[in-house]
Amino acid sequence: MNLPIRPRRNRQSAAIRDLVRETDLTPGHLIYPLFLQEGEANTPIDAMPGCQRWCVRDLVKEAGEAHALGVPAVVLFPRIPDELKTRGAEECHHDAGLVPRAIRALKAAHPTLTVITDVALDPYNSDGHDGLVSDDGRILNDETIEVLCRQALCHARAGADIVAPSDMMDGRVAALRAALDGAGHTGVSIMSYTAKYASAYYGPFRGALDSAPKAGDKKTYQMDPANAREALREAALDEAEGADILMVKPAGPYLDIIARLRAASTLPIAAYQVSGEYLMIKAAAASGWLDEEKVMLESLLGIRRAGADMILTYFARRVAEKMA
Ligand code: PBG
Repeated sequence: MNLPIRPRRNRQSAAIRDLVRETDLTPGHLIYPLFLQEGEANTPIDAMPGCQRWCVRDLVKEAGEAHALGVPAVVLFPRIPDELKTRGAEECHHDAGLVPRAIRALKAAHPTLTVITDVALDPYNSDGHDGLVSDDGRILNDETIEVLCRQALCHARAGADIVAPSDMMDGRVAALRAALDGAGHTGVSIMSYTAKYASAYYGPFRGALDSAPKAGDKKTYQMDPANAREALREAALDEAEGADILMVKPAGPYLDIIARLRAASTLPIAAYQVSGEYLMIKAAAASGWLDEEKVMLESLLGIRRAGADMILTYFARRVAEKMA
C-alpha cells in the first residue's frame, strides 16, 4: 500500500516518542496536600489509603521528604478538635492555632518549601460550612469574608507563601488582596479556587476532617457541575480582583473547564485531583483491577495535557519517588 501519511512513524521508537512528546509531568508540577492534627500521633485515614492525619512533628518530616524528592509545595488541611469548633469559626485566626504552628515549623525546617494554606471556615465551623451560617440557615457572604481576611492574615503572619481561598464567597479575592497588602504582606500570593464545583468527589476528604455540613449542602456557593460558562465568569472576576493563580476542582471530571480557563486567561492554572479521584484509583488498584502506578501517572498527565500548570494531588510523594 502506498500510504503517503503514516502517523505511526512518529511512534516507532522510544527515542522518537520522546522527541515528539507534547506534555511532561514532573514532581516540580505537583503540590502535596497534607492533613494535620493535634498531639504526638498520626492517624491513618480509612477512606484515603496511604494518607494520614499527621502530628506537626511528622508533618514536617513528611513534607521535608517530599520536598527533597522535588515536590515544591504543600497545602495544609487541619483536623480541628470538636471542642474548638464554633459558629463564628474563631479558631481559624488564632495565632497559636494548629495551622500557624505548622506553618512556622515547616518554614523553620524547610525554608525553600512553599507553604500553601486553605482559606475557608469548614474545619473550624460547628456548622461544617465554608461560610458563616445565619440562624435561618443562609450562608452569609460578606460577614464570612471578614473572617476569611483574619484567617489569611493569621497564616501570612506565620509565614505562609500562598493562601488558597476555597470558600467560593463572592468578592473574597479582592478583600483578601486588600487585607494582605494593607498589613504589608504584598508578597503573599492568592491561589483562588476559581471553579470549585459542588462535587460528590469530596466525600473522603470531609470524612478525614470531620467537616461535612451539619445541615444542607454547599450548592449555594460551590458551582453546579452542569456549568462551564459560569467558570469563565468566575475566572474573569478572580483575575480582575487580583488572583495570582486560578484553580479548577475537581480535576479529572472537569478537564474541559481546565482547558477553557487555560485558553481564556494568561494566569497560571492549578487543578486539584481531589480525594474521591484518589480513592477511586486506590480502590480499583486494591482489588487488582487497575495498575495503580500507571493509572496514577496517566490521570495526572491528562490533567497537565488539558492545560494545568500545577496539580494538587495526594499522589505527589509517590510520583516523586517513582521519578527519583
Ligand atoms: C474545604 C475544602 C474541601 C476540599 C478542599 N478544601 C471540601 C469541601 O469543599 O467540601 C476537598 C478536597 C478533596 O476532596 O480532596 N473548603
